[in-house]
Amino acid sequence: MCGIVGYIGHRDAYPIIINGLKRLEYRGYDSAGIALYDGTQIELAKTKGKVVDLEQRANGSISKKGTLGIGHTRWATHGVPNDANSHPHYSNSGELVIIHNGIIENYSSIKKELINRGYTFHSDTDTEVLVNLIEEIKKKESVKLGKAVQIALNQVVGAYAIAVFDKNKPNEIVVAKLGSPLAIGVGEDEFFIASDASPFIEFTNNAIYLEDEEMAIIRRGKDIKIRKIKNDKVVKPFVQELQLNIEQIEKGGYDHFMLKEIYEQPSVIKDTYRGRLLVDQGIIKLGGLEEYIPKFINADRIIIIACGTSWHAGLVAEYTFEDWARIPVEVEYASEFRYRNPVITEKDVVIAISQSGETADTLAAIKLAKKKGAFVYGICNVVGSTISRETHSGTYTHAGPEIGVASTKAFTTQITVLTMIALKLAHVKGTISKSDYMMHLHELDMIPTHVAAALKSNDKIKEIAKVFKDATNFLYLGRGYNFPVALEGALKLKEISYIHAEGYPAAEMKHGPIALIDEQMPVVVIAINSNHYGKVVSNIEEIKARKGKIIAVVTEGDTVVRELADYVMEVPKTPETLTPLVTTIPLQLLSYHIAVMLDRNVDQPRNLAKSVTVE
Ligand code: AGP
Ligand code: GLU
Repeated sequence: MCGIVGYIGHRDAYPIIINGLKRLEYRGYDSAGIALYDGTQIELAKTKGKVVDLEQRANGSISKKGTLGIGHTRWATHGVPNDANSHPHYSNSGELVIIHNGIIENYSSIKKELINRGYTFHSDTDTEVLVNLIEEIKKKESVKLGKAVQIALNQVVGAYAIAVFDKNKPNEIVVAKLGSPLAIGVGEDEFFIASDASPFIEFTNNAIYLEDEEMAIIRRGKDIKIRKIKNDKVVKPFVQELQLNIEQIEKGGYDHFMLKEIYEQPSVIKDTYRGRLLVDQGIIKLGGLEEYIPKFINADRIIIIACGTSWHAGLVAEYTFEDWARIPVEVEYASEFRYRNPVITEKDVVIAISQSGETADTLAAIKLAKKKGAFVYGICNVVGSTISRETHSGTYTHAGPEIGVASTKAFTTQITVLTMIALKLAHVKGTISKSDYMMHLHELDMIPTHVAAALKSNDKIKEIAKVFKDATNFLYLGRGYNFPVALEGALKLKEISYIHAEGYPAAEMKHGPIALIDEQMPVVVIAINSNHYGKVVSNIEEIKARKGKIIAVVTEGDTVVRELADYVMEVPKTPETLTPLVTTIPLQLLSYHIAVMLDRNVDQPRNLAKSVTVE
């Protein structure tokens, strides 16, 4: 998920790798490491912390010699950020060295098998399992490194970009990719490896971007050999000439991290349920949950605590947990909960949701709930974060680092995890029919495709943004599952455009906010074709009667709301229970485009911090 850099050529690898890792810092990481090979001795330095900490560690501890090297910035997914879990990792013999971005999902069964064969492990990572699997295959099958990597990768399930070298092959690095990015810079008798081109752009403009399921054997002073991992087919290297500057490369060609993160949602939602949602087998498997299912099912109630966007994800879960699992749910602002002497007992289960895992109010609320005897389950994005350590158990969202202050992919991946938990509990409890359960597994698996389709309306949404960018107030309305989405849409607009916006349950409008409506007031209505459709249509009529301007989020093919609304943003059809995952997308894009048109600092809006570690 974070950064990899490699070099093989005629120069000293150390400065190229260290500077390259610094270029990749924007991707967010918690540890860094480097391995160098001068043909006789492998040197390795790694540490929890930043690249400057790695430089300090390297000073005095290694000689920094070698024209072959690999370096890594780790964003922990398996095992807390510490020195031992940092990459690179050695194989047991000390002959193979690997760096890896991504997740090996079936690592635990492979690890068990390797332990039975006498392997020992020095970290908690999935990566160390992979390098030992490669070693085992290399020995058992008497094959070379490249072949062993290929066989191993055909046995693993997951996502990866890896670079690995062998002490017996001082002129070779093997790389491979599936899901995580990997670029190879092609210089004069030298090659660079990196997660994007920023680490090598000053050395060469020529790059090969490996495609998924491809691997390459890179030999000093020779051509690159690329193959398909699955069927061994040889692929002709396609060398592109790059015309991007470093800033553009860092943001993956997008103008802002927020936009990049909005567009990452189809793939990160998949990463969130990868290996956990087994549709064909009708199974949801969440490691942290399994042994605590009875606690959840027998709980008097579930209390969800969070702040901001994470709180909105909690509100969506209130609907799914109650609807499917029939467990009473309360959703609380962590900042209120912690100070109001709440009634909590050992029969309560508390779910704490936090992208960063560091939010001070959420942390304090967790401590209070624990003190009062409740079982606390965490849903965090950042592995090893304080909240993930303070909770009794939990599930990571695996959304990758979120750099934009305005939360986007964290929200949809939190909802994905919460939906899986609710479905699992309902299934075990027997409060959802088998057919409804199976239908939802299938539909959840379709969400990445639907999100990708919703993103296609981007140009149209930009046009709508142009019309309303100078409005001073916005109202967002939604009902049922889409009431929290209305709140989230309003929060996104406020945060990054500084336009005042309010989210409301659509039917509540006539109890107050309707007084605000005049011809100046844009009203964003989530009017998807579901349970409340007729009622929301009536709300739209009421707004029209008072000359308000309607921007509606509608289901593809809708005709009724299209007739009434001034502008529509379409999303694909999905069961109402899953609609927040798609209706959120146009609202993220609308706020983004308005903020850009108003020349706001989209990624770092004024007065806001990404992680609020103070009260
Ligand atoms: C979201 O766009 C905000 N920047 C903010 O509300 C955020 O969701 C909140 O501070 C909670 O953060 P957490 O998920 O890291 O705990
Ligand atoms: N899964 C690996 C780990 O936890 C790699 C994480 C990354 O992509 O940085 O160490």
